[in-house]
Amino acid sequence: MLLEGKGLTMVYDRGKELETYALRDVNIALDINQMIGVMGPSGSGKSSLLYVLSGLKKPTAGTVVYKGMDLDAMSAVERARLRKKEFGFIFQRHFLIDYMTALDNVLVGINDASAAGKNKALLLMDRLGMKHVAYKKPFQLSGGQRQRIAIARALINDPAVIFADEPTASLDHANAQEVMAVLEEIKAKTSVLVVTHDASILKNADSVIERWDGRIKAEQPEKPVVALSKERHRASAGSE
Ligand SMILES: Nc1ncnc2c1ncn2[C@@H]1O[C@H](COP(=O)(O)OP(=O)(O)OP(=O)(O)O)[C@@H](O)[C@H]1O
Ligand SMILES: [Mg+2]
Repeated sequence: MLLEGKGLTMVYDRGKELETYALRDVNIALDINQMIGVMGPSGSGKSSLLYVLSGLKKPTAGTVVYKGMDLDAMSAVERARLRKKEFGFIFQRHFLIDYMTALDNVLVGINDASAAGKNKALLLMDRLGMKHVAYKKPFQLSGGQRQRIAIARALINDPAVIFADEPTASLDHANAQEVMAVLEEIKAKTSVLVVTHDASILKNADSVIERWDGRIKAEQPEKPVVALSKERHRASAGSE
């Protein structure tokens, strides 16, 4: 397994009046060549799950194992290095820099403006159908184009995993489908974990996990249950 979270629990403001369980005993696994979707309403802990799995936040309980390495056993510096080398992130807002061209925005991902770096970025943009806008600025692009530039920036480092936090939330349906098509295509090389509250974008995911109240509720029945042990599924379904 490429990335595995076991018994993940995330409590914010523990011991205080506002104590919040963002994750309760969540098990999830992502394999190579997979795109997994995690569904849930606002506040159900989707972002928290991505932060914990990518080592940005430490879970209150549970373990995250990436390529056999326990993230908790690593130092903060080692975790940061791992993230930089192996992980890419896409957010709801694209966070592109408005005064820089699309190409330069992609190059931010490798901090390398050499001819070789530029060639690599242009090849990648070509693959994503974005080469023709390489010298335009973000405000001159459509929402879907901007998000595809953000995907190129996340991919330029050849990550093994892309974490996407509601990557289509600010897009119309057509642009959302376009962005999802790109994510589906890249899973041949880069595994993808997408969290969203929009089921319609996960039609082609290998597995979809539904979340509620920090717990895993159920998978879509027609999808193979690859990400979650059946026992856990029954246990959490029974407790609801
Ligand atoms: N830093 C924090 N401190 C305290 N509580 C937090 C913090 N971050 C998140 N929470 C709480 O944890 C719960 C899960 O939040 P999270 O952001 O993971 O949900 P989400 O599913 O990503 O929501 P959305 O769809 O709105 O982005 C929420 O109840 C939220 O208020
Ligand atoms: Mg969120």
